[in-house]
Amino acid sequence: MYSMRSIGSVKSPYSKTRNIPKGLGAKHEAEGVLEILPEFEAGLTDIEGFSHLFVLWLFDCSQGFALLGTPPSDNRPHGVFATRSPRRPNPIGLTVVELLRRDGPRLHVRAVDTLDGTPILDIKPYLSSVAPEQLRRGWLAEAEARKGQG
Ligand SMILES: C[S@@+](CC[C@H](N)C(=O)[O-])C[C@H]1O[C@@H](n2cnc3c(N)ncnc32)[C@H](O)[C@@H]1O
Repeated sequence: MYSMRSIGSVKSPYSKTRNIPKGLGAKHEAEGVLEILPEFEAGLTDIEGFSHLFVLWLFDCSQGFALLGTPPSDNRPHGVFATRSPRRPNPIGLTVVELLRRDGPRLHVRAVDTLDGTPILDIKPYLSSVAPEQLRRGWLAEAEARKGQG
């Protein structure tokens, strides 16, 4: 077992999961604020130079987990580790957000997909070294192709 503490929480416009866009073609453009606890503010030093951030957070409103599930973007079941399901053995969420500005311990960001008050576990600068032509999108590409045909 490991234990973790939150470094802050997400101020989000979403108070209910049903209001968060999901499924194929869902656009995540909502703005929110990553409110970092005062004792961790020094850890934000120099973060302003990054356009995008990885945010690791806790699915604190999820219960239990399912190793197989049918995501909103498909009508076929997939393994939990091949999806972004909230019901995971370790309920950790990962979101890439755009950093709009920093106001002391508050990071104003775009593209939040969490509930209001979601605990933040960590923040890291987003750096991608994978060329687009090397990426494979697995079952998601197949689901998108089927939708395009339908
Ligand atoms: C499909 S997950 C993807 C989250 C993240 N981008 C990821 O890949 O880990 C997004 C969904 O998680 C759910 N969710 C958001 N915040 C949550 C929270 N604090 N606890 C439990 N479920 C949450 C909402 O239903 C939302 O639509």
